[in-house]
Amino acid sequence: MTDDQPAKPGGEPPQGMHRGLTSYGDPDFSMFLRKAFIKGAGYTDDALGRPIIGIADTGSAYNPCHGNAAQLVEAVKRGVMLAGGLPMAFPTISIHESFAQPTSMYVRNLMSMDTEEMIRAQPMDAVVLIGGCDKTVPAQLMGAASAGVPAIVLVTGSMLTGSHRGERVGACTDCRRFWARYRAEEIDADEVASVNDRLVASVGTCSVMGTASTMACLAEALGIMLPGGASPPAVTAERIRVAERTGTAAVQMIGRGLTPDRILTGKAFENALRVLLAIGGSTNGIIHLTAIAGRLGIEIDLDQVDAMGEETPVLLDLKPSGQHYMEDFDRAGGVPALLRELKPLLHLDALTVTGRTLGEEIERSGPGFRQDVVRSRAAPVYPRGGIAVLHGNLAPGGAIIKQSAADPRLMEHEGRAVVFENVADLALRIDDDALDVTADDILVLKNIGPKGAPGMPEAGYLPIPKKLARAGVKDMVRISDGRMSGTAAGTVVLHVVPEAAIGGPLAYVQSGDRIRLSVGRRELALLVDDEELARRAAAHAVAPPIGARGYHKLFLERVTQADQGVDFDFLRAGECVDRIPRRCGALLRRGATGGTMGEFDDARGRFGESIG
Ligand code: FES
Repeated sequence: MTDDQPAKPGGEPPQGMHRGLTSYGDPDFSMFLRKAFIKGAGYTDDALGRPIIGIADTGSAYNPCHGNAAQLVEAVKRGVMLAGGLPMAFPTISIHESFAQPTSMYVRNLMSMDTEEMIRAQPMDAVVLIGGCDKTVPAQLMGAASAGVPAIVLVTGSMLTGSHRGERVGACTDCRRFWARYRAEEIDADEVASVNDRLVASVGTCSVMGTASTMACLAEALGIMLPGGASPPAVTAERIRVAERTGTAAVQMIGRGLTPDRILTGKAFENALRVLLAIGGSTNGIIHLTAIAGRLGIEIDLDQVDAMGEETPVLLDLKPSGQHYMEDFDRAGGVPALLRELKPLLHLDALTVTGRTLGEEIERSGPGFRQDVVRSRAAPVYPRGGIAVLHGNLAPGGAIIKQSAADPRLMEHEGRAVVFENVADLALRIDDDALDVTADDILVLKNIGPKGAPGMPEAGYLPIPKKLARAGVKDMVRISDGRMSGTAAGTVVLHVVPEAAIGGPLAYVQSGDRIRLSVGRRELALLVDDEELARRAAAHAVAPPIGARGYHKLFLERVTQADQGVDFDFLRAGECVDRIPRRCGALLRRGATGGTMGEFDDARGRFGESIG
């Protein structure tokens, strides 16, 4: 057998250039042809005999959050070659929040399929996933989890903060704050144009604890990123060094057999959920973790996440829940500093991409130091987890609220519903001075769920009606089946399951109905009697999608609800192998029973029946 031949059946699995040969019915010819072509790029046999590290390059002119991707690719290549590997960068879909119509979430699953199939189709022994902007890291992890090749995440890093008339600003919590002030006529068009130049001071991802920062922290907590890899800003020397080290680590992962299923275990996801709660992370983090875990047959039980929140304080003082920015978090020690504080609540034996456990990595990160960004558990930013899970006749499958970023005065609130049927209806009427609305009302937006919009856009952060904004109203209770940017704050109930577009109870709410929100009791109730609700349900017809084709058709037919991560049903693992989090102490104290996987499936079946 020559060097160029693939392994015979029963031998060692093929490595490097021998992996995944194109099929012509003659493997030797396939290898001959492959090497002939790649040699056209100037490679030697020595280079082609090395372990191959694929580098998923998501640089794109449409994605300034990945504006340093080319520099990172070069640094990863250097790290790979220092360790004796051959780096092979390849492009995949790149998604930026503001350049993805109708919404970035609509194409997340497409990016995950692209990533999975390119990892599978091309020869690589391990892969470095360069992501950053909100949907990219989840998409890459979903794809990598399904592809099963050793994978390591490298994020582009956060942007720098800017300055507007002496005030520190950063995308995109401050984008929303200044826009709200403009809507309230507190600042004029000249000032809002001026701040527009200052909000994004460099390439990189949003500078607050939005979805990008959240997913970076979660990737590190999952153990699928190098320790300390989440927080260095995009334009720093440390970000480049992390990239070089990531390339080296990718080569080392091959010999250790560190495939995603060994890293992304139930314990790793429990650690990530702890971190999500402790950083006051984006509500999108729940959806993305659910989708990634679903690829590996791991179910995330929202009620147990809520129970976990009871014993997990918010420790990170970052916008929108707190006051600092990502670059401050980096100076304060980054995720290792947070993990050190959370240590008693973590599974320290979870394996990471270094081949060491999370506990060992926490020890290696050294002692903490004095700083004011990562709080101690004795002096938290918020006493319990950032995200609470709600239930009730308006959300039989659950809904969530980011309580750490909500107005405490509105968390126990009953009010009159002011209903918008869809985003177009909202745009048409929200600023009409004739709109019958007061600050005590509850704004309800339907049809922005996974199928409704489609793609579950971040329209759940409904603007305060202009006439109320002018009168100084800063927050109202808002309810929808959509999502909200992690950079936003307010008393906003999201992810109502089932969504209105498939006939969930949200579809039956009418203006004038009373709604009760009790975060304390975890309740979201439509105060309409059952008989009337049944009458409305009987009269409600779910409209079938008309004229959809291609990806749009696939999306509408196969997308799941928020409680299954908005993934496509056919991409999720065939069977459930684990359900997390395990019962938490707080839940047991409340007398809940947990339940077996069978009971869980039964409940889902009943729920499925109820929504038709
Ligand atoms: Fe890319 Fe915020 S828009 S991270």
